[in-house]
Amino acid sequence: MTTAQELMDVQSARLATLDEALPSSYLLPHRGEPLMARLADGTEVAGLMAHTSHPPGSLQRLWSATENYELFPLLGEHPRAGMDALLDSWRRQLSQREITAADSSAVVTWPSRDVDATRALLDHGFAPLTCLAVRPAAPAKYTKLSGTVKTRRAGTDDLDAVVELALAELNYAALVGGSVLRGDAETLKRNAARVRLHTTGRTGSEPVWLAERDGEPIGLAECGWTDTETHPGQHRLASGRWGYVNCLSVREQERGTGIGSLLTALAHDEFARAGVVGSYLYYNPANPLSSVFWPRQGYRPLWTVWEMRPATALR
Ligand SMILES: CC(C)(COP(=O)(O)OP(=O)(O)OC[C@H]1O[C@@H](n2cnc3c(N)ncnc32)[C@H](O)[C@@H]1OP(=O)(O)O)[C@@H](O)C(=O)NCCC(=O)NCCS
Repeated sequence: MTTAQELMDVQSARLATLDEALPSSYLLPHRGEPLMARLADGTEVAGLMAHTSHPPGSLQRLWSATENYELFPLLGEHPRAGMDALLDSWRRQLSQREITAADSSAVVTWPSRDVDATRALLDHGFAPLTCLAVRPAAPAKYTKLSGTVKTRRAGTDDLDAVVELALAELNYAALVGGSVLRGDAETLKRNAARVRLHTTGRTGSEPVWLAERDGEPIGLAECGWTDTETHPGQHRLASGRWGYVNCLSVREQERGTGIGSLLTALAHDEFARAGVVGSYLYYNPANPLSSVFWPRQGYRPLWTVWEMRPATALR
């Protein structure tokens, strides 16, 4: 019998050869329901399923379904057949539970470059709703803007402008990815932005910039810092301190004129000065703007978040 540890070791070694930017180990949640599956030749694969509920009022509801069922696969060296067999087994496991919520999701977050597993996820009907993308720390490239656009760090007095631009991004993202426009979205965004504008981290305040034309806010870059040692929730990055782009938003009528690139350059410069390993962000592959914009800014997919909504639709 193959042990979970053996599957984990073989899987970790295989993933390390696929993508050197992945963290050295694949972390399982502390609690979950174990899952087993057998391939046609008797080979075993395994997984752990974690169930999380996001009650009304929690920020995660802006990008997650209320009831989340997440699978953490241990596929050894069988990414395609192993993922296929495990998803069959997961479907049977989920069908025995009373999942009534239409607002539910089955989620698998998997290394983007493991395309054999991608085939199995697509065959089971999963959609690649989100990518965690990374960029090595490097100096920014600036393009000169025409006109009268000015940029500056946002402060606590800019809360209304930050919330308005963040909500515009959420509106757009809810059309092209996993984000959800909840009724309390404005309150949730306001509370999160207030914290970010007030937070003082190791490297100074969380960096947030506004772009303005004639004093009118037209663009927002809301960024932060993630240290993998003090932020164990972010276990999908190689260890070290990272810059994080939480939200980039440019007013619709101002897009395509270089404002997003300028704000991103400011963020990349600040990240580089702070000596980060690199920077990361989440974007939706079906977003026709950001899926082009971020790779041009030097980002590439590291993990893909595959989702099935509702979870009962798993096939
Ligand atoms: C993604 C976004 C922030 C980029 O900001 P922007 O100011 O439009 O970006 P830029 O003008 O610097 O660059 C956009 C690129 O698309 C091109 N483009 C052309 N017309 C465009 C248009 N109407 N809208 C957007 N981009 C356009 C630009 O030419 C540019 O390409 P380039 O590298 O050849 O210069 C902005 O489009 C936006 O707010 N989108 C909606 C929210 C969103 O998706 N946010 C990102 C979430 S991850």
